[in-house]
Amino acid sequence: MNYHVLTLFPEMIEQGMNTSIIGRAIEQGLLSLEAVNIRDYSTNKHHKVDDYPYGGGAGMVMQAQPIYDAYCALEKKMEKKPRVIYLTPQGRTFSQKIAQDLAKEQNLVFLCGHYEGIDERVLEEIVTDYVSIGDYVLTGGELPAMVMMDTISRLIPGVLNNEDSAEYESFQNSLLEHPQYSRPEVWKDKRVPEVLLSGHHEKIAQWRHEQSLERTFLRRPDLLEKAPLDKKDKKYIEQIAANQAISDENVTEE
Ligand code: ADE
Repeated sequence: MNYHVLTLFPEMIEQGMNTSIIGRAIEQGLLSLEAVNIRDYSTNKHHKVDDYPYGGGAGMVMQAQPIYDAYCALEKKMEKKPRVIYLTPQGRTFSQKIAQDLAKEQNLVFLCGHYEGIDERVLEEIVTDYVSIGDYVLTGGELPAMVMMDTISRLIPGVLNNEDSAEYESFQNSLLEHPQYSRPEVWKDKRVPEVLLSGHHEKIAQWRHEQSLERTFLRRPDLLEKAPLDKKDKKYIEQIAANQAISDENVTEE
């Protein structure tokens, strides 16, 4: 996977991405990252990249020319037109499913905006995907681009140490991950659940699955609509719901 980020703050991308697991994957050659400074492509003698909006209004708008030229320089080096992701609160909300789809690409270009936005004409010309990371407004697209690259990178074979860890985690099958425990066995009078010490793999797998169901029901019930549940799972959830109704009743009575 080769990432290319069009930005006014390349050092923010480089510093944010060159550490930890992603940094190691870049060193190993599993990923590459190129942060392109849009300002380097400005034909203006003062390297200006923004101007006032036509029609008036607050703030400045990023101009089309430097962004387009920066993009063309990237495209020239590629065999086929890449997907170009513009980070914007007006886009589709990013999800694990979108990450899985994007992880199949050889090259991804991220376009990071600033100020009051980007001249619409260059967006029409180069952008293939409009993506938001949630319903809130950030000062620029760099953090969302890094969120997306981090999520996509851990799906690339070899990036995570343990090949299965991407498979079992939250969202992969629309269920939240089960709780985890490590040493010591007792901490602040809290014991690690007995079954995890039993060495009985089948029982452990069943307990973990039930914990996933319970967690998802309690914390993110909306996810259960998409989860592939069998009869046994549905029964288990009904039981949790019934137990919860009883404990809610007890609370009201007190
Ligand atoms: N730029 C500013 N806010 C954003 C958001 N929520 N998602 C993606 N890009 C953004």
